[in-house]
Amino acid sequence: MSTYNGYDSGQWDENEALLAYYSEKFSLPRQRIRTKPPKPSNEQEKLEREKELVDAVTADRGIALGLEITYTPARFEAEWLYDSLRNFFHLDLITDVMAQVKGGKEASVYRCQPHPTVDAEWLAAKVYRPRQFRNLRNDAMYREGRQILTDEDGKPADPKDDRIIRAIGKKSAFGVQVQHTSWLMYEYTTLQKLYAAGAAVPQPVAVDQNAILMGYVGDGSRAAPTLHEAVLEPAEAEPLFQETLRNIEVMLNQGYVHGDLSAYNILYWEGKITLIDFPQVTDAQANRNARKILSRDVQRVCEYFGQYGVECNANAITEKLWARYAAPDPMDYLADMSKVEAARDEAERLKTERVERLKAEREER
Ligand SMILES: Nc1ncnc2c1ncn2[C@@H]1O[C@H](COP(=O)(O)OP(=O)(O)OP(=O)(O)O)[C@@H](O)[C@H]1O
Ligand SMILES: [Mg+2]
Repeated sequence: MSTYNGYDSGQWDENEALLAYYSEKFSLPRQRIRTKPPKPSNEQEKLEREKELVDAVTADRGIALGLEITYTPARFEAEWLYDSLRNFFHLDLITDVMAQVKGGKEASVYRCQPHPTVDAEWLAAKVYRPRQFRNLRNDAMYREGRQILTDEDGKPADPKDDRIIRAIGKKSAFGVQVQHTSWLMYEYTTLQKLYAAGAAVPQPVAVDQNAILMGYVGDGSRAAPTLHEAVLEPAEAEPLFQETLRNIEVMLNQGYVHGDLSAYNILYWEGKITLIDFPQVTDAQANRNARKILSRDVQRVCEYFGQYGVECNANAITEKLWARYAAPDPMDYLADMSKVEAARDEAERLKTERVERLKAEREER
C-alpha cells in the first residue's frame, strides 16, 4: 500500500468512495469533495491523523466494538451508524438496531431494541449525517436570537468566547462542529422542555455527539406514518386539528415556534398525533422573524386539515395566538416607560445638584 504523508492511500480511496456515495445519494455538489488529504502541519496533528487511520482500518466498527445488530446497514453507512450509537450501547440503553425507519434530509432514523432496564418496547435513534454530507437547512433565519448550545448538557456557550464566534464566522471545521452540536442540542433540549410541558412529542431518552435517542412511534412491523402519508377518518380531522393547535400553544407558552411544522413533521398512530423534528425551533421573543415563521407553520397545518373540510382561517389563528403568547405585554411597556421617567428625573436631579455646586464654588472664590 502506498502512503501519502503518513496516510494509507488505500484508506484514502475508501474515504473518497464514501464521499462519492453520500454525494450521489444526497445529490450534493461534487466540488464539496476534497480530493487530497490536507498535509498535517505538525507532529501532534500527524499523530492524530495516524490514530484516526488506525481506527478506520479496524474497518468494521461493529465487530471492533463487539456489536452485532439485526439491521444490515449499507457498507458506507455502517461505520457512521456504529460510531454514532456506540455510547447508547455502552450505556445499556439499547441492545440492537432493528431497522431503518427513514433517511431524511439531515438525519436517518432507526428503530432500536431497548435494553431490558429501559421501560419501552422500542426506541427511535435519530442519527445525524456526517456534517460534510448534511444538506444544512438555511438556518440563519431560525438562528436569530438563539444562543449556541454546547454538548455539556446543552448549556449555552459563553457569548463572549471569541474562539467560538470567530470559528463560526470563518466556518472552520471547529466552527461547523459547534454549529452541528448546537443544532442537535436544540432538538434535544426542546424535546425535554416540550415533553415536560405535556406536548405530544417523543420522550427524549439520551443524546450523544451525533444522535438522539427518543420514544418510538409505531410498532415492530411499521413506524408511524406522517400525517401526509396517513388517511384520516373524516370524523378524526377536527379533533386532530384542535390537538395540533394545542401543541402549537404549548410550544408558544414555552417561548418556541416549531419553524418547520407541516403534515411531514407530524406522525399519526392509532388516532393520535406526535410532533417531531425540532432542530430549527425558533425563539418566539428574540427572533424578529418569529411571527412570520409561526404564520407559515399555521398556514401549512390549515392547508392539510382544510383538505378534510376543517374550517380554519390561518391569519386569524396566527393573530390570536401571537396576541395571547408572544406579543409584548402592554404592562411591560408601561413598566419600561416608568423606568425611562425615573431615569429622566434622576438626570434632572444630578444636573441641578451640579449647578448648585458650581454656584457655591464660584461664590466661595
Ligand atoms: N420518534 C419517532 N418514531 C418513529 N418514527 C420517527 C420518529 N422520529 C422520526 N421518525 C421518522 O423519521 C423521519 C425523519 O425524521 P425527522 O423529520 O426528525 O428528520 P429529518 O432529517 O429532519 O427528516 P426530513 O428531512 O424528512 O424532515 C420522519 O419523517 C419519521 O418518518
Ligand atoms: Mg422531518
